[in-house]
Amino acid sequence: MKSIIVTGASSGIGKAAVIRLVQSGYQVFGLSRRYDQLLALSSELSSYNLKDDQYFPAIFDITRYDKFEEVLNNILSNSSEKTIFGLVNNAGYVEPGAIEDITIENLRAQFETNFFGLVEFTKEVLPLMMQRKEGRIINVSSLSGLISLPLIGAYSATKHALEAISDALRMELWNTNIKVININPGVVETDIYRVIRLKLAIIEKEKKSRFSNAYNKYLNNIPSGLSAKIVANVIDQAIRSSTPKHRYIIGSSKEKLALRLRPFIPNKLFYSQVAKRILS
Ligand SMILES: NC(=O)c1ccc[n+]([C@@H]2O[C@H](COP(=O)([O-])OP(=O)(O)OC[C@H]3O[C@@H](n4cnc5c(N)ncnc54)[C@H](OP(=O)(O)O)[C@@H]3O)[C@@H](O)[C@H]2O)c1
Repeated sequence: MKSIIVTGASSGIGKAAVIRLVQSGYQVFGLSRRYDQLLALSSELSSYNLKDDQYFPAIFDITRYDKFEEVLNNILSNSSEKTIFGLVNNAGYVEPGAIEDITIENLRAQFETNFFGLVEFTKEVLPLMMQRKEGRIINVSSLSGLISLPLIGAYSATKHALEAISDALRMELWNTNIKVININPGVVETDIYRVIRLKLAIIEKEKKSRFSNAYNKYLNNIPSGLSAKIVANVIDQAIRSSTPKHRYIIGSSKEKLALRLRPFIPNKLFYSQVAKRILS
């Protein structure tokens, strides 16, 4: 049984990916900080007719580099092949707020989780894939990694950075059978928006922002989106393929159209229209 690590497995896309990958017959290690949620997933999975060693939950904070070795050793000792085939880099959150409202500490924390932690953990897992001469690194990026929008600039910056480093790593691994695959979802209905609301409430409490109305209008009322299951199916498909695409864009037809048209829209028009729509 090939082993796959999924970070951020306690909810949303990560949780859906664990369920999908387990159904596909992989051994899956679900990692996140909230162990109770990972255990709840265990009982949910028990109805799926699993082999005993198919799902392992493990406590993991992607910002705690000092614990990575311990977490990986624990995973390897339970791994059926004593190595790792796939890594789904999914853990992440949105630090919302206009640039003038974001503290440097929060900006750094956003990069620690969505970017530096992800890169450092990937570097720990990569030698195992090198040893077995094959592997799949799935980086859960976002449409925000391709287009930056107001009020989520910090998040967009981390996902743009992830795009850049994924491209570099993909080329560095070109002559190996280790594939770097980016997943770029648009709006997906998950807990990410609950976390955004909590964080916005803190900004609002701490200072009078000139973006208060925009926060309410834009971030507190996220349009309904795709189900996490759809993203999980794409992750599963990318992992199972011997010739996966470099990038999978997943979104509504409106989101996909906007992305396709973006290179043809003059910058001045794009910036002014988006700013008017989101901020006024
Ligand atoms: N939902 C969307 O619209 C959307 C769109 C595009 C891309 N994405 C991306 O999809 C990924 C998953 O997000 P989601 O929408 O599924 O949100 P979610 O339901 O809030 O899940 C986020 C996951 O990340 C984990 N996480 C957060 N900080 C962590 C840390 N320091 N260490 C370890 N795990 C951590 C959380 O687990 P714990 O709290 O238990 O640690 C949770 O399992 C993110 O990378 C996000 O950027 C989401």
